[in-house]
Amino acid sequence: MTKTSNQMWGGRFQAGNDAIMEAINASIGFDQRMAAQDIQGSRAHAAMLAATGILTDTDAETIREGLLTVLSEIEAGTFPFSTALEDIHMNVEARLTDLIGPVAGRLHTARSRNDQVAVDFRLWTRDQVDASIEGIQQVMRAFIGQAEQGADWVMPGFTHLQTAQPVTWGHHMMAYVEMLGRDLSRFRDARARMNESPLGAAALAGTPYPIDRHMTAEALGFDRPMANSLDAVADRDFALEFLSNASICAMHLSRLSEELVIWSSAQFRFVKMSDRWSTGSSIMPQKRNPDAAELLRAKIGRIFGAHTALMMVMKGLPLTYSKDMQEDKEQVFDAADNFLLSLAAMSGMVADMSANTEALRASAASGFSTATDLADWLVRTLNLPFREAHHVTGALVAMAEAQDCDLPDLSLADMQAVNADITDDVFNVLTVEASVASRTSYGGTAPDNVRVQIARWTAELDG
Ligand code: ARG
Repeated sequence: MTKTSNQMWGGRFQAGNDAIMEAINASIGFDQRMAAQDIQGSRAHAAMLAATGILTDTDAETIREGLLTVLSEIEAGTFPFSTALEDIHMNVEARLTDLIGPVAGRLHTARSRNDQVAVDFRLWTRDQVDASIEGIQQVMRAFIGQAEQGADWVMPGFTHLQTAQPVTWGHHMMAYVEMLGRDLSRFRDARARMNESPLGAAALAGTPYPIDRHMTAEALGFDRPMANSLDAVADRDFALEFLSNASICAMHLSRLSEELVIWSSAQFRFVKMSDRWSTGSSIMPQKRNPDAAELLRAKIGRIFGAHTALMMVMKGLPLTYSKDMQEDKEQVFDAADNFLLSLAAMSGMVADMSANTEALRASAASGFSTATDLADWLVRTLNLPFREAHHVTGALVAMAEAQDCDLPDLSLADMQAVNADITDDVFNVLTVEASVASRTSYGGTAPDNVRVQIARWTAELDG
């Protein structure tokens, strides 16, 4: 099927595109999400063309007003998007022509869709980075709130998901604050790196017009224009960095989600997720499912998938622009939507969950969790080498196991049968409270340490 040639670039064509060519070529179905950025870029460009005398002030003003009308039509949902016009850039320009006539054609002076799409996508991604920074901070605040409540609540610390040593609830919550703090700094770093303007690179080589790239860069909130026009239209590393950072952060959220799934089970009962974040079963009335946590656990899959997909799109492309790069957007859009949704859900879930302090303490006290404290007491008080203390403690654990009791339940006589020098004082270190209170080394789980870290992060987030 043929039609008349494309009104934007069809000068040398006699016939229009095949319908299937039109379908595979069009990006308007998704890149209309960048409409606001496209118009923002065009307005900055038009103002610069007037300031440098490339356009008359009258033409620039007509274009400016026309663009505002186009924007209001898009916002109102009345804009006539057309697949035949391929993408957002040509849709906007065609509509501008309908509205203001041939002067619209002057807007594309000293510009190409190559630098235009690079600007639009960079601005769009920068917005997502800003929203991510906000979202991560919200999750951090939710964790800090939990840590404040339970700086000294005792829970089991795990390695291999086996009880290892008692830790505090606050310490566990603050571990995620540390992870998210690094995520935050990764997004901030990426923002600083991506905040350069590709506008004015034109098709790839720059332009003979006396444009002012510093002016457009500033108008669009960029720190400076990109220094190499080929690089400006060719790279998408800013989107990859966004996806990479989102993947790492989603990985952190996924680990926490897994913990929430385990902790909210009837076997653990460490936390109760609020009704707002749980669902029931249509057949089993007793059920209370942590669906939001499960979905969050899975979201990393599509976010990481988007990162891999874009890496594959970009990896073999010769400089500069190739149409392959139109495939850069959809997955980034999807990943960003799901990432921001994940952050919002996580901050709500964490803020709303309630810890079962009794179950946490009971679990912390089981599994001989203070065995290391006992060994340390033998080293400190009896001056045993740590290896020997480890051995003595092992024998005492075996004895408690045989008697079906915990370490603090052994009698002094039993303990002295293993090592005659043990005194009553040992019982002071065998409680879980004593165990966590003793771990005052920098970064350790002692409640006082936790409170110091809470104060540090609160100041950081508020500052
Ligand atoms: N829709 C295109 C994209 O998303 C815009 C750039 C087109 N440039 C070109 N030289 N055909 O990549």
